[in-house]
Amino acid sequence: MKKFLLRELRCPKCRKSKKLKLTDSELETDDEIHEAELVCKKGHEWTVEEGIPLLVYPPLSAEDKKWIEDYDQMAETYDEAIKTYDEFLGVDIMKEREKLVGFIPMEGPATIIDVSIGTAANFMAISNALKGQIGRFDFHGLDVSRGMLRVAQRRLTDQGITHSLVHGSVFNIPYADNTFDLVIHSGGINTFSDIPQALNEMLRITKPWGIIVVSDEGLSSKARETEWGKKIIENNSLFAAKPPIEHLPDNAMHVEVSWILNDAFYQIVFQK
Ligand SMILES: C[S@@+](CC[C@H](N)C(=O)[O-])C[C@H]1O[C@@H](n2cnc3c(N)ncnc32)[C@H](O)[C@@H]1O
Ligand SMILES: [Zn+2]
Repeated sequence: MKKFLLRELRCPKCRKSKKLKLTDSELETDDEIHEAELVCKKGHEWTVEEGIPLLVYPPLSAEDKKWIEDYDQMAETYDEAIKTYDEFLGVDIMKEREKLVGFIPMEGPATIIDVSIGTAANFMAISNALKGQIGRFDFHGLDVSRGMLRVAQRRLTDQGITHSLVHGSVFNIPYADNTFDLVIHSGGINTFSDIPQALNEMLRITKPWGIIVVSDEGLSSKARETEWGKKIIENNSLFAAKPPIEHLPDNAMHVEVSWILNDAFYQIVFQK
């Protein structure tokens, strides 16, 4: 992790903004931090391992842990597994992910986070679509699965994409308020144990006027009436999910719901 990331993080225990410091003064001279101890002003201690600050707090519920163990195990094969969706849904998901560029400011620097980054597929797609422009982006990724983060780190490094990754939970995101121009989340929210809290946290870390884009499995009402739609839901009940708009924070502005990936995923876009 780059040392400047410390300016954007906050201690997940006392939730005080921008109060994390390295304890080892020797490392403070080094721009790139691989292994280190962090401490907040109140004395809460955290570690950085393999270049990733470990900031999950509080410990996960038994229900969330079950999902995370599955993600840790499938991390290395996740990209292959997700490709089966291409045929299943009749789409090229990597190409579809490129449409996220429509939410990025056309010019100037932009700070972007993928919450539940998984294997960093969204950032790979964005950098593919905006080749030559990635220097103006500050890419951040959060995930609670260290297996997924390891794959994301390798993929982004191999592609020469500068990034900051954090091991943290969507229910208590260890970033300061008003940090990001764009917050992306794809593919996890349907199974989150506290959807309102996840959406609240995504809005909190967004800058005023920034944009939040949330998508997950869920057929449009038209698609769920078709034989195709019925088969898809029969195959994977996650596709029966509906966009959780009733859980959006009261201060979410300009909410728009649409369907993407051949009407099989909902997409909620809102603004702070
Ligand atoms: C289906 S994968 C989607 C990955 C990626 N966003 C994509 O579009 O390919 C769901 C991701 O959510 C992450 N996740 C699950 N619970 C989480 C939590 N409480 N906080 C942050 N991430 C979580 C998992 O580790 C996994 O990487
Ligand atoms: Zn603290």
